[in-house]
Order: sequence, then structure tokens, then C-alpha cells
Amino acid sequence: MKRACVIGWPIEHSRSPLIHNYWLKLCGIDGVYTKKAVPPEDVSTFLRSLASHGLVGCNVTVPHKEAALAAADETEASARAVGAANTLWLVEDKLCAANTDTYGYMTYLNLCVPAWKTRDKPVCILGAGGAARAIAHGFLEAGVEEIRVFNRTRARAEALARQFGARVKAHDWEERTSKARDAAVLVNTTTIGLNGMGSLEIDLTGFDPDCVVSDIVYVPLETELLAQAKARGLRTVDGLGMLLHQAVPGFEKWFGVRPEVTQELRDRLIADIKGSKPC
Ligand SMILES: NC(=O)c1ccc[n+]([C@@H]2O[C@H](COP(=O)([O-])OP(=O)(O)OC[C@H]3O[C@@H](n4cnc5c(N)ncnc54)[C@H](OP(=O)(O)O)[C@@H]3O)[C@@H](O)[C@H]2O)c1
Repeated sequence: MKRACVIGWPIEHSRSPLIHNYWLKLCGIDGVYTKKAVPPEDVSTFLRSLASHGLVGCNVTVPHKEAALAAADETEASARAVGAANTLWLVEDKLCAANTDTYGYMTYLNLCVPAWKTRDKPVCILGAGGAARAIAHGFLEAGVEEIRVFNRTRARAEALARQFGARVKAHDWEERTSKARDAAVLVNTTTIGLNGMGSLEIDLTGFDPDCVVSDIVYVPLETELLAQAKARGLRTVDGLGMLLHQAVPGFEKWFGVRPEVTQELRDRLIADIKGSKPC
């Protein structure tokens, strides 16, 4: 039996086992995917000994993504560009790492609103953490000329801008409404809205009617930002699609089959999200 898992600290909230075990069953593969809480001080040792834990690989979530990159022997360009890895696998005795968050976000955005890229307008990113880096990388690869990053801690937005070069510009958090109205895409990558907590306090009045509004928070599925955008007739892209699509490359590496993100799988996740208590 092949085994993989997701590690994080904490890890209870992770829905990755639901996704991978669904695919394992669907594909008739003798395998299992579990979750394991690993404290920061043990991450490197754990990742360096995947085989002795009986694992063919793992996903890595907060706060271990940078440590995962550092622990790897070989890294894909996706992980090096973002500075973090979320997917690890073994090739013989070598630990390999990739970042599939960029793939997950861009794949779902392109599926939902392929026309976003026909607009010669900036992309506006709220937040400057690890997910913001993955998404900024995706938009740069897609050829976006200007990315505006708004973050509560401006120094972090500036660090992100320095990392990615002149096409990425840091802005004050207070400017998130006034400087985003012409955006082709507005994306929330902060934790605001998670479990319905907090408000981005952004006013979408006067936003370009073609602006695509997306949120990578997926609990609840329709965040306050997405609800506001829908009420204004703007197109929206939820965070669940990113979660589902980022899982595809890892499953393929570990189990040898490229799985599909189906409506049935999405419905299962939605049912789980609706049934969950805030954590
Ligand atoms: N859908 C998916 O597949 C997917 C994938 C990855 C992540 N996510 C979600 O994305 C979110 C961010 O993840 P991450 O890894 O980037 O986390 P992170 O590195 O910890 O970054 C968190 C970001 O949220 C901002 N923030 C937190 N509280 C805030 C507040 N009260 N006001 C304004 N800004 C605030 C932080 O600003 P400061 O810099 O000022 O602290 C930072 O920009 C999480 O909710 C995570 O679950 C979803």
C-alpha cells in the first residue's frame, strides 16, 4: 500500500485527506492519505525520513512551507520562485519539492473566467504572505504588467515587491479600495474572512464592471468579499477551486495517475465545509 500525508501545525482543519482519499478510491489505488501534526522543530527531521515513515511523499501546510523548501534535495522552479514548497515526493532516496499553489490558483481562475487575461489592467493582491507570493508568481508568469500588493504590514509588501521585481509594487493597506478600482483581478490572500471572522472593509463601489473578484479563503465558501462582489454583478472565483487543483500534481507524483477535479468531489468538500464548526 502506498502512503502519503499532509503535515502542518496545527493540521486538524486540513481537507486534503478528503480530496486524496476520494481519488484513491475512485482510481482503485491501494493507498491512503492521512494528516499528521508536526511541530516546527521536527519538520526537517520528519521530511528527511519520509521513507522510514512508510511515505512516498507529503503535502506541507502552514507554517512549514519554507522549511520544506530548505529540506529538499531537488526543487522545481515553482518552489524556488515562490520561496516555499507544499508538495514533496521521493525519487529513489532524493527528496523533491514543488509549489503547486500557483498552479492551483491560476488553473481555477483560467477555468472560471478565461477572459481575465485579455484585459490590459493591473492585478491587485490583498496580503503579502506565502499564498500572495505563489499568486503573484502566477500572474507574472501569465504576463501581467503591473501587480499592486496591499498589506497591513507594508514592509512585507515591499519585501514581496523586491523579490519579484519592478512589475510588483507595494501599496499601503489603506489604499486597497482607492487604488484597486481599475483592477482586472482583485484577490484576497489574507486570512480575513476565514470562518467568517473580520472584514476586509473594502468598498467595491465604482470598480470596473469587468473586474474579477477572488478570495482564496474557502471557509465559508462565499466570503463577505465574494458576496459583495456578486451583489454588484462582478464575476467571482472562490478559494475551494485553488485547494482542489493544487492537489492534482501531488497525487500524480505519489500515485502515478493524474486525477480529475470533478463536480462530485467539489460537492463533497462543500458539504464538509457547510457541516464544519468554526475552528
Ligand atoms: N484556497 C487555497 O488552496 C489556499 C492555499 C493557501 C492559503 N490559503 C489561505 O490563504 C490565507 C493566507 O495564507 P498564507 O499562507 O499566505 O498566510 P500568511 O503567510 O500567514 O499571511 C497572512 C496574510 O494575512 C494578513 N492578515 C492577517 N490578519 C490580518 C488583519 N487582521 N488585517 C489585515 N491583514 C491581515 C497578513 O498581513 P501581515 O503581513 O500584516 O501580518 C498576511 O498578509 C489563509 O487563510 C489560508 O488558509 C488558501
